[in-house]
Amino acid sequence: MSVPAEEVAIVSALTHEGEGVVRGGKTAFVAGALPGERIRFRRTRRHRQHDDAELLEVLEASPLRVTPRCAHFGICGGCVLQHLDPAAQLAAKETELREALARVARVEPRRWLAPLAGPVWGYRRRARLGAKYVYRKERVLVGFRERAAPYVADLAGCEVLASPAGALIAPLAALIARLTIREQLPQIEVAVADNGTALVLRVLEAPGAADLALLREFAASHRVRVYLQPAGLASVRALDEAPAARLNYALPEFDLTLEFLPTDFIQVNGAVNAALVARAVELLELTPAARVLDLFCGLGNFTLALARRAGAAVGVEGETGLIERARGNAVLNGLGNAVFHVADLAAEPADAAPWLKGGYSHVLLDPPRTGARAVLGAIARLAPARVLYISCHPGSLARDLMELVHQHGFTLEAAGVVDMFAHTAHVESLALLVRP
Ligand SMILES: C[S@@+](CC[C@H](N)C(=O)[O-])C[C@H]1O[C@@H](n2cnc3c(N)ncnc32)[C@H](O)[C@@H]1O
Repeated sequence: MSVPAEEVAIVSALTHEGEGVVRGGKTAFVAGALPGERIRFRRTRRHRQHDDAELLEVLEASPLRVTPRCAHFGICGGCVLQHLDPAAQLAAKETELREALARVARVEPRRWLAPLAGPVWGYRRRARLGAKYVYRKERVLVGFRERAAPYVADLAGCEVLASPAGALIAPLAALIARLTIREQLPQIEVAVADNGTALVLRVLEAPGAADLALLREFAASHRVRVYLQPAGLASVRALDEAPAARLNYALPEFDLTLEFLPTDFIQVNGAVNAALVARAVELLELTPAARVLDLFCGLGNFTLALARRAGAAVGVEGETGLIERARGNAVLNGLGNAVFHVADLAAEPADAAPWLKGGYSHVLLDPPRTGARAVLGAIARLAPARVLYISCHPGSLARDLMELVHQHGFTLEAAGVVDMFAHTAHVESLALLVRP
C-alpha cells in the first residue's frame, strides 16, 4: 500500500476528543493540532465521515499553544489537551457547551456563568490505572491506557494525579515487578482522601506470604493504605484488617466531612468540587423553608450541603452502598433533615415512589453521562421553582434541556462550564432552570 501524501492545511476547530479538525475535502482529525494552526499532516486511517491523521509539523503555531508539562503527553491517554493553555481549554469547552445547547436544545441561557476554575495540576483524586507485566522488558508498566492503543502507557509519573499518587507510579511498578503474582494484577484504583491515600489492587490470584510482606512494606514506607480486590467490588478488603479511619474529604464552607470507601464515586477534583457545591447552593437560592430533591446523589456530596441551608433535603441514588454512606454521613454531620432513598433513576418513576412524596421547591440533579431522560417528566410534575442540572456530558445535557425547556416550560436562566477535568476533553457543566 502506498504511503498517503503529506498535506498542509489550517486547523479549524477541536473535536470532542481534543483533536484538531481539518476541513476542505474529506475532514481529518489530527491529534496534537490546535485551531488556527497551519500544519503538515498525513492521513493514517479512513472512516466513513472522516480520516484520522498524524501531525507531522506545526508550521504556524497557535498563540494559545503551550509546552505540555508531562513527558508522556501524546502517548498517554490520560490527558489530551496539555498543549493548550488552560484558560483556552475552558473557552473551548464553553464553545462545545454553547454549540450543543444551540444545536440540540435550541436554547441560549439568559446569562453565561464564568467558568468555575480550579487547580489544573495534581488535582485528580480518583483514577483507575492499568498494570501490565511485559515479558520482553521484564518490567511492569503502571499507568493510564495509551491514547491511540489499548496498551498500558509506560509512565514514570503523572502530573495530574493528586499528591502523593502522581509520584507513586514508578514505585508501584517496581513493587509489582517484585511480586510473584506480578502477572495477575491488572488494575489499581487510586483514591486520594483528605486523611490518606488508598490503592485498591485487583488481584486475580491471592498473594502469598512473601508478596503480602512486600505489600505491607510498601504501604508503610509510602504511607498509603493498600486494599486487595480478589473479585467484584464487594470483595475489597484492607490488606490488614486493623481498623483504619474511613477515608474522607471535607466541605469546610458547609462544615461537612464526608466519608467514603476507596472504590466509591467521588468528584474527581476536590477543590473544584468544593466550589461547585457552593455555587450550586448559591444558584438554587435556598431559604430555610426550602425542600430540595437531589437526584443521583451518590454519598451525599450535594445533599448534605443543601440540608445545611434548606429545611429538608432528600437524596436519591441507585447504588445501595452509596446510600448507606450518605446516611452515615448525615449522622456524622448531625443532619437530621437529610433523607435518602435507593432507586433506579434510569426507569420512569411511579407517581407513588416514596421519594416523590411531600413536594419540592428545588431540584438538583447530577446524572451520569447518559443523562436523566427518565426522570424529567417527574421533575416537571413536581413544579419546583428552580432546577439545577450538573452534567458531565454536553450532549445528554442538551437533549434533556430541550425537553425541560420546550416541553415542560422551564426557562434556561444560566449555564456555564466547570473545570473538573483539566487537560482532558471531558466537559463538566451546570445549567440553572427556573419556572417563569
Ligand atoms: C456523576 S455521579 C454524581 C454523584 C454525586 N452527586 C456526587 O456529587 O458525588 C452520578 C451518580 O449517579 C448514580 N447513578 C448512575 N446510574 C444511576 C441510575 N440508573 N439510578 C440511580 N442512580 C444512578 C451513580 O451511582 C453516581 O453516584
